[in-house]
Amino acid sequence: MEIQEETIQKSYSNALKQRKSSTPSSCCSPQTQSQSCCPSSTVLEAGEPVSFGCIYLKPILRDYLEEGMTVIDLGSGAGHDLMTAADLVGPTGKAVGVDFTDDMIQEATENAQKNNLTNVTLVKANIKDIPLPDNSADVVISNCVINLALDKSQVFNEVFRLLKPGGIMIDADVIATQPLSREIKEDSDLWCSCVGGALTKTEHEEILHEIGFTNISVKLGNKDSVQFDVPELAIESGIIFASKPIA
Ligand SMILES: C[S@@+](CC[C@H](N)C(=O)[O-])C[C@H]1O[C@@H](n2cnc3c(N)ncnc32)[C@H](O)[C@@H]1O
Repeated sequence: MEIQEETIQKSYSNALKQRKSSTPSSCCSPQTQSQSCCPSSTVLEAGEPVSFGCIYLKPILRDYLEEGMTVIDLGSGAGHDLMTAADLVGPTGKAVGVDFTDDMIQEATENAQKNNLTNVTLVKANIKDIPLPDNSADVVISNCVINLALDKSQVFNEVFRLLKPGGIMIDADVIATQPLSREIKEDSDLWCSCVGGALTKTEHEEILHEIGFTNISVKLGNKDSVQFDVPELAIESGIIFASKPIA
């Protein structure tokens, strides 16, 4: 079955509604229920926006983000990592969230207002074609989103374009530990659950290298990852770092 972007949008709109109404399931399909892109609420601090990410990024963002930076969050969802980024870059910096689901944009806007974060901007757009200027971000972050994109090279090319020379990408995502079968890749539920579109470590490295990124590192098994207890799916959460060269 061909994967449709509209199906992905609807699944995240529904996932947010379900989370807000405290219905247990979310973005997960029945096969991966509560194992895919849905961190345990126990790792979230009280009052934090809901997260659909696959790694608790806060400790990593604390290490990389500095006051005054411009950060772009691809697929910012309800704004979990975006609010952290806004807080870390402070009033002289900017945190820009990009998402293509209306409900997510609205939720993140409300969360920024609730937290009095005046340095947050939300852009409704597809991450394959982002209406933001070249060389504008110190750091591009993303959490459990790029696996959902139908053309990953197009998205990573956008990341490269947006980064300032010397800027870095921090991309938490689901990584396939072996190439996924065609059956899995063509299952719309599994795609929307952040499984079917997962690239392997080697596929990530090849695409990023081809685009011109340097310092590429794909690390699996982060201690703050969502654990997948479905061995036959051959997936793990991981974090991909890459830099745009200075010259
Ligand atoms: C698994 S959720 C992760 C949300 C957020 N990063 C977090 O950690 O909570 C995926 C998000 O990416 C958005 N998304 C998926 N594909 C997208 C695309 N092609 N363009 C823009 N947003 C996209 C969805 O609307 C959803 O909000």
